Amino acid sequence: HLAVPLTVALATLLATGTGAPVHRQGNRHKLLLVSFDGFRWNYDQDVDTPHLDAMARDGVKARYMTPAFVTMTSPCHFTLVTGKYIENHGVVHNMFYNTTTKVKLPYHATLGIERWWDNGSVPIWVTAQRQGLKTGSFFYPGGNVTYQGVALTLSRKEGILHNYKNETEWRANIDTVMLWFTEEDLDLVTLYFGEPDSTGHKYGPETQERKEMVQQVDRTVGYLRDSIERNHLSSVLNLIIASDHGMTTVYRNASDLVEFHKFPNFTFRDIEFELLDYGPNGMLLPKAGMLDKVYDALKDAHPKLHVYKKESFPASFHYANNPRITPLLMYSDPGYVINGRINVQFNKGEHGFDNRDMNMKTIFRAMGPSFKSGLEVEPFESVHVYELMCHLLGIKPEPNDGHLSTLLPMLHSEPNPLPSGASTHLPSGA
Ligand SMILES: *[C@@H]1O[C@H](CO)[C@@H](O)[C@H](O)[C@H]1NC(C)=O
Ligand SMILES: *[C@@H]1O[C@H](CO)[C@@H](O)[C@H](O)[C@H]1NC(C)=O
Ligand SMILES: *[C@@H]1O[C@H](CO)[C@@H](O)[C@H](O)[C@H]1NC(C)=O
Ligand SMILES: *[C@@H]1O[C@H](CO)[C@@H](O)[C@H](O)[C@H]1NC(C)=O
Ligand SMILES: *[C@@H]1O[C@H](CO)[C@@H](O)[C@H](O)[C@H]1NC(C)=O
Ligand SMILES: *[C@@H]1O[C@H](CO)[C@@H](O)[C@H](O)[C@H]1NC(C)=O
Ligand SMILES: [Zn+2]
Repeated sequence: HLAVPLTVALATLLATGTGAPVHRQGNRHKLLLVSFDGFRWNYDQDVDTPHLDAMARDGVKARYMTPAFVTMTSPCHFTLVTGKYIENHGVVHNMFYNTTTKVKLPYHATLGIERWWDNGSVPIWVTAQRQGLKTGSFFYPGGNVTYQGVALTLSRKEGILHNYKNETEWRANIDTVMLWFTEEDLDLVTLYFGEPDSTGHKYGPETQERKEMVQQVDRTVGYLRDSIERNHLSSVLNLIIASDHGMTTVYRNASDLVEFHKFPNFTFRDIEFELLDYGPNGMLLPKAGMLDKVYDALKDAHPKLHVYKKESFPASFHYANNPRITPLLMYSDPGYVINGRINVQFNKGEHGFDNRDMNMKTIFRAMGPSFKSGLEVEPFESVHVYELMCHLLGIKPEPNDGHLSTLLPMLHSEPNPLPSGASTHLPSGA
């Protein structure tokens, strides 16, 4: 067993019972979690990335990180901030849907649907605030709604027509986040960038366009590190750079596309609700009494398509055991997307696939006062990042699927070292 750092013990003590905000300690380390969407684990291996390389020398780099399944943006981002597998946090898709009303909302609209996100799991922002800290989210999925009535101290939501690749705006956003730390005294900020995901989808991961976007990400990492230095945050701010999933090339011209409209014994007349045409992931609610018929028609319909009844979905994915998952669900093999009534998917790169596929693996990098330098660690699952972040902030975590012991070797062995002069004291009556 690990010694419990003083700050954690203190937070534990103060957080029990009422859940009322506790007295804040001075000088605790701040934390910035940055996500570059769709940054595959090896995107730095065929492009010059001097700033990411320097960060690895000065901090910790994982060989790769295994995202949760499904390898989709909102579900995987929510795993990072809750430490839970997707079936345990309930944000099971990028799209809000209701199988009764048949309402389906796209990714951007879903970002604002509180009841989609606030489904029983309290993310780290809210946990931190309940323990007396201040937090912010800049475009991070799930950071712009309230949880059990609690909003983040500061939050920004991207506009619907947001241009994801504007480097000038990226720098302005970093400047804003620096002000959030220095002037608003936030303790935790999550900052999201929609690249290199968008470029990976549009052009494919093995293209010059993707490589150039990775260089833009790398310049941004350089700008971020300079900004931390310039704002005198180097000794107080821990920085984690991570992502949600990787990217793989879509076989758009394959002769064996997965197309529901070509399956012989299947008809949409048997289906009450469908969620298809979203990369390699699909869900179906058959009409009453039709489950077995539909399942029989689909189970061997295509060699690249894996269709399951909900209760038989492989438990190792930690995905299907949630009330939001329909009675039938499916995924397809790397490179193949699932087409429904007509083919409407034209991306050249895609994700959502089996998280054991190497092209779905993603990055984890970290540096700052608490992290060792020049350390490369073996791969781990993204559910563990949450416990590490709670430890770095000195807050008591919510129940979750991760283990602090997995990532603790990244840190200096001193229990959560505070800058000299920091003191902790119990408010009277505690
Ligand atoms: C779907 O919408 C209906 C009608 O508004 C509502 O009664 C039901 O609770 C919703 N179902 C879920 C699972 O949210
Ligand atoms: C989670 O959402 C489902 C509908 O999607 C709803 O039936 C359930 O009550 C929600 N659970 C919590 C704890 O909010
Ligand atoms: C969402 O973000 C906007 C700014 O983009 C902000 O005004 C609003 O308060 C945020 N809402 C929540 C619930 O965080
Ligand atoms: C990029 O962002 C900057 C700063 O927000 C803005 O002034 C500029 O118009 C944007 N350029 C494009 C091409 O969107
Ligand atoms: C698919 O085939 C079309 C023409 O048949 C070609 O223009 C296109 O480049 C091919 N796409 C891929 C991804 O190979
Ligand atoms: C379709 O159903 C027929 C009759 O039940 C059966 O003979 C045939 O093998 C089925 N085809 C497929 C592809 O499942
Ligand atoms: Zn994507």
